[in-house]
Amino acid sequence: MSHHYTQGINTKQAHKAIPEGYYEEEQGLLGFFGPVSHLIRKQPSTRWTKIEGPLKPRMYDLLELNKTESYRRLFYNDQVRIGWQWSEKKEPGKLFAERNSDGDLLLFCHQGTGDIFTEYGHLSYSKGHYIVIPKCVTYAISPTEKSNFLVIENLGGHYEEPVRGLVGRHAIYDENALVKPELEGQEAQLKKLGHEIKEIHVKHNSELTKFSYSEEVFDVVGWKGDLYPFTLHVDDMMPLMSHRAHLPPSAHTTWVGRDFVVCTFLPRPLESDKDALKVPFYHQNIDYDEILFYHDGDFFSRDNLHPGMLSFHPAGFPHGPHPKAVKTIEDKTHTNEYAVMIDTRWPLKRDEVLTSVELNEYWKSWQS
Ligand SMILES: [Fe+2]
Repeated sequence: MSHHYTQGINTKQAHKAIPEGYYEEEQGLLGFFGPVSHLIRKQPSTRWTKIEGPLKPRMYDLLELNKTESYRRLFYNDQVRIGWQWSEKKEPGKLFAERNSDGDLLLFCHQGTGDIFTEYGHLSYSKGHYIVIPKCVTYAISPTEKSNFLVIENLGGHYEEPVRGLVGRHAIYDENALVKPELEGQEAQLKKLGHEIKEIHVKHNSELTKFSYSEEVFDVVGWKGDLYPFTLHVDDMMPLMSHRAHLPPSAHTTWVGRDFVVCTFLPRPLESDKDALKVPFYHQNIDYDEILFYHDGDFFSRDNLHPGMLSFHPAGFPHGPHPKAVKTIEDKTHTNEYAVMIDTRWPLKRDEVLTSVELNEYWKSWQS
């Protein structure tokens, strides 16, 4: 516990009117909701010349992962498991159902289109859809074209919506933008595609068990309640912004898990005040490991990126925009990026598979 205090050169408002030739760095606890200070530096803290040891910024190209495997775990801790999944179009009769008893499932569709059959009814998905499937709900993904997903399993609790606070319940996305499953018509759609689902693959403690049945497993004829799978498309999301000062990433929170959050960065106008910082501020997010998945568009805070890449910035060192982005941002009025961020309260472990798709020079990318 401490009280606000200032020394030397400082600013009245965070991320605004940073003295010419200096750099602002935010050091914050609890994802910038707790005690926080802004340091005015002569140079960005990202000017390291050598990093020795396992703690460093990392970048991966997930599109280089084997595209024939159905699922690869990438990162994990006790609260969250993050993976990458390819789903192929299934021939009639080959579709099986799945059930995840390890936690709520959040899929983000990076590529592809298709149907999802569930005990609660039919959903469809396309590129840019979030799909929330509560723990233990039976579902079957039936791609109409080869699809891939970022998969975020909430192991320690259940997904909740962000607290909207001052901006009210229709901000970020309207509740009505959440697409609910349609029970009516599901049977006909299954028949049309020639699927009769008689197998359920259940994940428990990361192990799969196959349950077989002699008849179709999706036999629900009605239901009531507030526990069901649903979807949300990025086009139905309304990013918050201030034209006067850069808002923190927490303004873009989409889903809240136990000890982690999922945020979505979407195209938006840039801050228009002349003295407003327009790129993400240099920061130490002291209590959180950060993952950023680049889905689509132009990624304004760094260069040499393409959709399907993923960065990992664990707690323990400051980071911020790429030097080129700082120079070029002045000519821009809008961002055109779609990215999914996962911030975790406890350190993430990395799966070995990531080393095969790591860009080993990434830690040098802040050198101008
Ligand atoms: Fe960060």
